Amino acid sequence: MKIQVNARNRTHLFEASPGEKILHSGLARGIALPYECASGTCGTCKAKRVSGEIDDAWPDAPGRKSLKSADEFLMCQCVARTDVVAEVPAYVQMMDTGSCVPCAGAGRIASTEMLTHDVMLIDVDTDAPMEFDAGQFVLLGVDEVEGMRGWSMVNFDRHARRLRFVVRRKPDGVLSDWLFSGTSRFGTRVSLFGPLGHATFYPSLGRDLLCIAGGSGIAGVMSILSRAEQDDYFSRHSGDVFFGVRTARDVYFLEEFTRLRRACGQGLTVTVALSDEEPPSALVNDYPLIRFDRGFVHEVAKRHMAGRLGNVIAYLAGPPPAVDASIRMLLLSRVTADNIRYDKFS
Ligand code: FES
Repeated sequence: MKIQVNARNRTHLFEASPGEKILHSGLARGIALPYECASGTCGTCKAKRVSGEIDDAWPDAPGRKSLKSADEFLMCQCVARTDVVAEVPAYVQMMDTGSCVPCAGAGRIASTEMLTHDVMLIDVDTDAPMEFDAGQFVLLGVDEVEGMRGWSMVNFDRHARRLRFVVRRKPDGVLSDWLFSGTSRFGTRVSLFGPLGHATFYPSLGRDLLCIAGGSGIAGVMSILSRAEQDDYFSRHSGDVFFGVRTARDVYFLEEFTRLRRACGQGLTVTVALSDEEPPSALVNDYPLIRFDRGFVHEVAKRHMAGRLGNVIAYLAGPPPAVDASIRMLLLSRVTADNIRYDKFS
């Protein structure tokens, strides 16, 4: 199928394979179509159909709330049934040279491990090496569950053959129910599309690093820290990580944070913020290289970063309301929008 996208600045033409989402077709050809979650929730990828027929894979997608007419559709959920001409209300460029162009792939679940009562660490071995930037995510799907979900990579490796993810059990998450059912998922084939996401970290940015993450949003932060460690970034710039969870039983990665603190020295600080209770003394005593505090993660970050926000680049991740609260806090603290990076997906 031929797809023509009329953007504000130019027209893009590309082919879509049968069954391929229009967003995926364009991105895989290096066209930087607008998106954020890539999974039907945010509405950022909306377009208006001028001609042609499309099928909507998820007519109840939350992101459809942003659509204003019957001709509008979400490119991340729709497939072309015929040649399609569409308008996108945005400037759309080709991706920068050197950026990781997303593509479809596949792999197999290599291991799973419970990190807390409701958080699982999952390793996926990919059929082919994948290039991604620190802070990016992929869409992952399995045959037994309809649709794909966005998961951030925890690791950072060039030509990665293994992707590591953190997944939190969601009350109404179908893929999450499948994962947490108690049945071993070892060896299950998975489909992948990625890498995706704009909240990428490069050592050449040359600014102090501030990461504020709620819950499983810490995944992308771990990838950024891995990249920074590999580049010895914290010998040149400071790094401050704030990890927000509700209670002590929700916290994880403490051993890895301790290892990073030892490896990166004084340049890196890690603060765990508990929103619902005072940090228990056992936790504080067992992990002396990690700071613990009480409060919402953006408030704790504001307190500890007072007077030190002048040269930061901030990476935010987690539930959308928590990301929004951090954005407000940073903008009110005069961090400019171009130094605040996030991908809102849940
Ligand atoms: Fe399509 Fe978020 S709804 S990118």
